[in-house]
Amino acid sequence: MLADHSIAIIGAGNIGRALIGGLLRGHDVDPSRIHATRRNVDPLREQFPDIRIGSDNAAAVADATIVVLAVKPQNAGTVLAEIRGHVPDTAMVVSVLAGITTEFLHKALAQDLAIVRAMPNTPMIVDQGASAIAGGRFATPHHLDLARTIFEAVGKVEEVPENLMDAVTGLSGSGPAYVYMFVEALTDAGVKQGIPRPVAFRLAAQTIYGAAKLVLESGKHPAILRDEVTTPGGTAIAAVAELESHGLRTMLINAVATATARSKELSELEK
Ligand SMILES: NC(=O)c1ccc[n+]([C@@H]2O[C@H](COP(=O)([O-])OP(=O)(O)OC[C@H]3O[C@@H](n4cnc5c(N)ncnc54)[C@H](OP(=O)(O)O)[C@@H]3O)[C@@H](O)[C@H]2O)c1
Repeated sequence: MLADHSIAIIGAGNIGRALIGGLLRGHDVDPSRIHATRRNVDPLREQFPDIRIGSDNAAAVADATIVVLAVKPQNAGTVLAEIRGHVPDTAMVVSVLAGITTEFLHKALAQDLAIVRAMPNTPMIVDQGASAIAGGRFATPHHLDLARTIFEAVGKVEEVPENLMDAVTGLSGSGPAYVYMFVEALTDAGVKQGIPRPVAFRLAAQTIYGAAKLVLESGKHPAILRDEVTTPGGTAIAAVAELESHGLRTMLINAVATATARSKELSELEK
């Protein structure tokens, strides 16, 4: 599906490079059909010697059928001005710019382009990303399928209406930060009980990874899986009661609500 496309990655930093890696590994994309840009191109040349690399954004989009915008939102204004008028009318634009709406992009590019907005997360670096995609006004199911294929190269993909993108930012976009805190805290908890730190760290991280994998692969509700490991009068239920008494659930609900509100606030500032 992607093999027939020429893909411009504008701003090949963390997210852009993870996508290039996924496209090269998971699809039949000829490296010469990927054109990546950034100002300091040396790290890109080292990592991807066979793709096209440069700093001229307008030239990169000119012969692309898919344009991925992956600069930081604060660099978006400059980049959008540079590529305005150079994106072919039939090309699809995929934007990972946090907080920037497809309507804003339509206006900035002054073209009736098919635009798909995406919110990935950094585990895509190890092909385990959780990405949400939303289509703009001119995006058809075909464009959404193409965008899905791109992000499925580096993880799982969900389609949502664009008005849920701030909530997605609060849940899965920012979510890795919460999980890293959980790994760190669980490691300290093990250390407090006398487990050497490197061992506690590996046990904590693998427990989170394994439990998440079991949730996804068994298809069972997490409450059922929790019930399966809580023996009456046993250790797990004693700890679960402790977590409940500190309001773990409410804490997470409020954390995601706060991140969602902050995402909304930041998108207002970008306008
Ligand atoms: N990281 C996350 O967890 C995450 C999650 C979801 C969405 N996002 C979104 O993904 C986007 C990229 O994030 P990131 O973490 O990948 O940032 P990043 O690593 O800083 O990558 C951005 C890249 O853009 C390049 N750049 C800056 N100005 C440029 C210009 N004028 N022309 C061409 N390239 C330019 C920078 O390289 P040079 O300085 O060499 O030009 C840099 O490599 C952001 O919009 C962010 O909102 C990030």
